[in-house]
Amino acid sequence: MSIPIKISGIGYYVPETVISNDDLAKIVDTSDEWIKTRTGIERRHLLSGNETAFDMGLAAAKKAIEKSGVKPEEIDYIIAAACLGTHIYPSTACELQAALGADKAVCFDITAACAGLIYGMGISKAFMDSGMAKNVLIVATEALSHCLDWSDRGTCVLFGDGAGAMVLSVAEDGQNDILSIGLRAQGDLGHYITMESPGKNCSLVEQNDEGQMYIKMNGREVYKYVVTKLPPHIEECVEKSGLKMDEIDYLVPHQANLRIIEALEKRLNFKHEGVISNIQEYANTSAASIPIALAESIEQGKMKLPCTAILTGFGAGMTAGTAVVRLREGIA
Ligand code: ACO
Repeated sequence: MSIPIKISGIGYYVPETVISNDDLAKIVDTSDEWIKTRTGIERRHLLSGNETAFDMGLAAAKKAIEKSGVKPEEIDYIIAAACLGTHIYPSTACELQAALGADKAVCFDITAACAGLIYGMGISKAFMDSGMAKNVLIVATEALSHCLDWSDRGTCVLFGDGAGAMVLSVAEDGQNDILSIGLRAQGDLGHYITMESPGKNCSLVEQNDEGQMYIKMNGREVYKYVVTKLPPHIEECVEKSGLKMDEIDYLVPHQANLRIIEALEKRLNFKHEGVISNIQEYANTSAASIPIALAESIEQGKMKLPCTAILTGFGAGMTAGTAVVRLREGIA
């Protein structure tokens, strides 16, 4: 049974330290011009000092919870999406539960890379539809600067750190905000974006090199995959939502590359003024990019509420997810 779900709060947090393209050109053979023309990125916010993925996620979660009006003790599930949490265990979700005082929440982390928020929304919807949850907190928090080889110009210029959070609640007023949702995975293309686990066999069994957890990516193949596979998937979700593409106010895509965003806009024939992008400021923050773009655009008045929007993400796995949503006033 499908029950009405309210998107009740959204929040985001980014670290203070800003690193420009020119700064990066001091450590790798690159230039502001190359990065800007190929990706649209101008700056990224990076973690410094003792701040971690957990701290960013906590800050974003607090904002989303405050906006939602839900009390921490009313949260039934916390789902965290992070490429690399502060620890592998305890999970980021368990750490957030303790810090928020969300005592009755069941907590776990998911690995769906840049589609993490939408995967979290799909899982939340299933819990709500089955009666297992009334309120779910999804936290996407990405310490990507900790997963990069800072001597590899092909990847280190593309990513930034940040966190976004969303609270979903059973809608007491009966208005459903998740009009449709679709999730996809294509594991046979997993080699396009990888990050090795540092785990190795016991040294009594064999000698091993130190493990290195770095993101490696075949950017060209990712680009081709996204621009060919994502538009039909988005169109299918729009059709399921009962809305027409030109009736939807905003397109909030995962912020991976401005050229990909422009290609999506063109292939979907989406109105330019409705396309949300902040990749210039934050680069690719993986699962956090959609909630950051959403909450920041609402805060800055670039997105006017109430409205309808397509949220669409894709990433390592390969994974993809799209939700067509209604956004009410006062959620961010
Ligand atoms: N500065 C200068 N030159 C560079 C840099 C750099 N930072 N990086 C690569 N180059 C060079 C390459 O060495 C190559 O040089 P060569 O021709 O002498 O061999 C040349 O630039 C072209 O390299 P390509 O990798 O072919 O460049 P491309 O035009 O494909 O752009 C990019 C690369 C920006 C990564 C693009 O492919 C892209 O954005 N792909 C999509 C990536 C993406 O969306 N990822 C999202 C998922 S991430 C996740 O899920 C965690």
